[in-house]
Amino acid sequence: MSIETLTAAVRNIPDFPIKGIQFKDITTLFQSPSHLKELSDILYEKYKNKGITKVVGIESRGFFLGPQLAVRLNAGFVPIRKPGKLPYKVIEERYTKEYGEDAIQIHEDALTEDDVVLIHDDLLATGGTMVAAHKLVKKMGVKKVYINFLIELEALNGRSLFPEEVELETILKFE
Ligand code: PRP
Ligand code: MG
Repeated sequence: MSIETLTAAVRNIPDFPIKGIQFKDITTLFQSPSHLKELSDILYEKYKNKGITKVVGIESRGFFLGPQLAVRLNAGFVPIRKPGKLPYKVIEERYTKEYGEDAIQIHEDALTEDDVVLIHDDLLATGGTMVAAHKLVKKMGVKKVYINFLIELEALNGRSLFPEEVELETILKFE
């Protein structure tokens, strides 16, 4: 299946959740068994030889593919969550996103200096969420970090917030 076919399966919803946002609805992509399998295979092929020990998924839409990718990579899965959801001691980062203020948290003992981490989320928009997630993961002193998104909104140039040396990959690109 081509990248164009996968891209065409993403539904665009104008003015959701607020006026002016072109929301990329990935449910149409995920509900198709063949599209879902193709996405899973692309992710697995990209990261299978990187020695990933933990996949970190960002709530909520990073939880769709994060855990199954972790299983395929023989890695653990670690959630980054919105405030107040994780029950143990957390580290927090605040950030500004495409439509509002927010914060994210991770359990302070979820990652160690031996971990090679893949942080996964569905969408790179302004980049605010992933910059915060990247900071959280870096603070934990892990060995190496890879970043992956299903979708990149290129016009917002979120990619520019990350230093050149950060290994950031996206699968489907929109203007
Ligand atoms: C959306 C999306 C990414 C983030 C991208 O999540 O799933 O996580 O925004 O935006 P950014 O690059 O401008 O930070 P949202 O916070 O809306 O929550 P959800 O995943 O729970 O729907
Ligand atoms: Mg999200």
